[in-house]
Amino acid sequence: MKGRILVTGGAGYIGSHTAVELQNAGYEVIILDNLSNSNAEVIDGIERITGIRPAFVKMDLQDKEALRQLFEDYPGIKGVINFAASKAVGESVKKPLLYYRNNLVTILNLLDLMPDYGVEALVFSSSCTVYGQPDILPVTEEAPIKPALSPYGNTKQICEEIITDTIHAGAPFKSILLRYFNPVGAHPSAEIGELPLGVPQNLLPYVTQTAMGIREKLSVFGDDYDTPDGSCIRDYIHVVDLAKAHVKAVDRMLNGESADAVEIFNLGTGKGVSVLELIKTFEESTGVKLNYEIVGRREGDITKVWADPEKANKVLGWTATETLADTLTSAWKWQQHLREKGIM
Ligand code: NAD
Ligand code: WQD
Repeated sequence: MKGRILVTGGAGYIGSHTAVELQNAGYEVIILDNLSNSNAEVIDGIERITGIRPAFVKMDLQDKEALRQLFEDYPGIKGVINFAASKAVGESVKKPLLYYRNNLVTILNLLDLMPDYGVEALVFSSSCTVYGQPDILPVTEEAPIKPALSPYGNTKQICEEIITDTIHAGAPFKSILLRYFNPVGAHPSAEIGELPLGVPQNLLPYVTQTAMGIREKLSVFGDDYDTPDGSCIRDYIHVVDLAKAHVKAVDRMLNGESADAVEIFNLGTGKGVSVLELIKTFEESTGVKLNYEIVGRREGDITKVWADPEKANKVLGWTATETLADTLTSAWKWQQHLREKGIM
């Protein structure tokens, strides 16, 4: 084994896919999750894919003594990947204190205890949302951070600053901040995927639920933007590609390859895709006609954003490889799996 990695929020969408890739790379995975936005069956799914059942500790990362007990129970954790957070932008506007408490107390507990247990590396789940609407596209890591458009986005900016200040004050570990663009899709096995609770806020789960007949039709939030077809443009990245980047980040820090104590990488394909292009590609790749209607803009949406992934490609040694068609097909296969299992 290459060492023990703690994956907080590891029963969640991106965390579960990352657990699979960490195991594939030879790491021992310990999952911490309070199942506030996931369920324990995900652990079974990981085991079905890799044949290795990760250790799973059901706990709230806001509970510092529970975290201390986990580090005592699992000595020798070399790295932590912190996915545990609340992530619904709209909900954060309605419940800011829930978001500030959950997303900040969790990281503070980790930063406090990691030095006591010899943890060498922290990967933090950040977001391209820190850039707001970039002035220049594609967006690089040097692009200015813009005032957050939501309490959720603000928690990501604040967490990045807390981690950076803590390490610059002499904390004995390194960190890599990964700024994700739009993670989508599911593991090709369809054993794990995105399981949004309630009405999906994000585009692709709404698309696949509409295609399955769970939703009557997809509302396209505006076609009057300053883009070629009028709909918003995003950089949709396959969640498995994204997961593999986390393994690269852990390897880099544990192998002593970090150029700085804190490094930042944009994780995207480098290709911008509009909502209408995504719909068209979904229909072509799955053969399923999608019922959709153009409606008014959604408040808070930015017009267009996509990554310049050159730094991740050249420095991290990682490149997104999945095509949009394969990515969308994986999401549809996962939705079909949920129907076959009677889950949705
Ligand atoms: P998710 O909700 O599927 O996973 C988060 C997991 O953390 C869930 O399993 C939840 O139960 C757990 N969790 C939340 N609070 C916790 C706590 N206090 N203690 C223990 N467990 C807790 O979300 P995701 O899409 O996998 O996102 C993972 C991370 O990536 C989040 O930090 C999110 O902000 C970030 N991110 C996500 C996206 C995206 O579009 N999905 C984009 C950029 C960044
Ligand atoms: C994508 C595009 C919508 C739903 C959000 C968060 C970001 C990150 C990723 C956590 C937009 C359009 C959507 C629908 C639509 N999450 N859309 N109809 O808004 O780019 O990013 O998720 O970190 O922080 O902001 O993703 O999937 O919600 O929307 O037309 O029913 O699809 O307007 O242009 P977004 P999204």
